[in-house]
Amino acid sequence: MLITGASSGLGLETALYLAERGMRVYASMPNLEERSTLETGARERDVSLRMLELDITRPASIDAAVRTIVQETGGIGGLVNNAGTRLRGCFEDLADDELRTLFDTNVFGTMAVTRAVLPAMRAAGHGRIVMMTSVAGRIGSFGVGGYCATKFAQEGLGESLALELAPFGIQVVLVEPGIVNTTAWGVHRVVARGANDLRGPYFAWFHRAEQLADAFVRSSPIRPQDVAEAVHRALSARRPRLRYLVGRRAATVIGLRRHVPGELFERFYFGQLMRRVLR
Ligand SMILES: NC(=O)c1ccc[n+]([C@@H]2O[C@H](COP(=O)([O-])OP(=O)(O)OC[C@H]3O[C@@H](n4cnc5c(N)ncnc54)[C@H](OP(=O)(O)O)[C@@H]3O)[C@@H](O)[C@H]2O)c1
Repeated sequence: MLITGASSGLGLETALYLAERGMRVYASMPNLEERSTLETGARERDVSLRMLELDITRPASIDAAVRTIVQETGGIGGLVNNAGTRLRGCFEDLADDELRTLFDTNVFGTMAVTRAVLPAMRAAGHGRIVMMTSVAGRIGSFGVGGYCATKFAQEGLGESLALELAPFGIQVVLVEPGIVNTTAWGVHRVVARGANDLRGPYFAWFHRAEQLADAFVRSSPIRPQDVAEAVHRALSARRPRLRYLVGRRAATVIGLRRHVPGELFERFYFGQLMRRVLR
């Protein structure tokens, strides 16, 4: 199993969780100097895994990582497309270079790694690809349009790939966690430069939305292990589902969206959100 973005957060926990359950794990990260937390986790939990350097925005890095795995093991059984970055801010505050960096990682990077493992999987006649998308790939929100756009893109790609790859014996699964308190909400938080401009037209609303998001992060009951467990199910189930939602709140919101007539849901859910943001 190749996991991208395993130096922290959900990727780190997933790497350890899968290795604990006997899977042969290649835990990758863009810079191996960042491996100490994973190393400590592996030692404490008494698991062995192989660490690899892999920056999903660099073709040479992707080729080298995939080549290493194929040489060492003869193939690639599974790929967990977990690596990702953030960008917070209302659309008019997002600069073009910031959006491109976001898309280069979450969309084009994910596509590039997926493309790189497919020949080996097709040759073997089996394989699993997990896309770590998000509830933000199913429903938009205030002040995260750029990030949501990348997660919607992953959803569309994953759904289409699932169809195209099924005849080759390769399954594609979308894992969709709700909010989980990881470094993404702390040191890895990326706020657009424009969103911090006090004179900006969205400044007060955006920062109110950030406070609301932080309150959700603090109260979220989802643990990284819950996400890792969903990935494990996606990789090991005999017949995996297309989607695994993680978290009760996430399941409730997506369930409501599915069952409550569109306008009513939008008036209620988005109305509530906007009342809290604009107050
Ligand atoms: N936390 C949540 O609330 C949540 C909810 C739903 C979905 N997700 C999704 O879950 C995934 C992991 O999120 P997280 O919360 O664990 O975030 P995180 O703690 O910030 O971890 C992100 C990981 O991605 C890696 N990464 C960033 N750019 C990369 C690149 N160019 N090449 C390879 N790796 C790269 C980072 O590596 P370095 O730090 O070493 O650069 C890090 O290991 C993301 O796709 C995110 O969208 C998160």
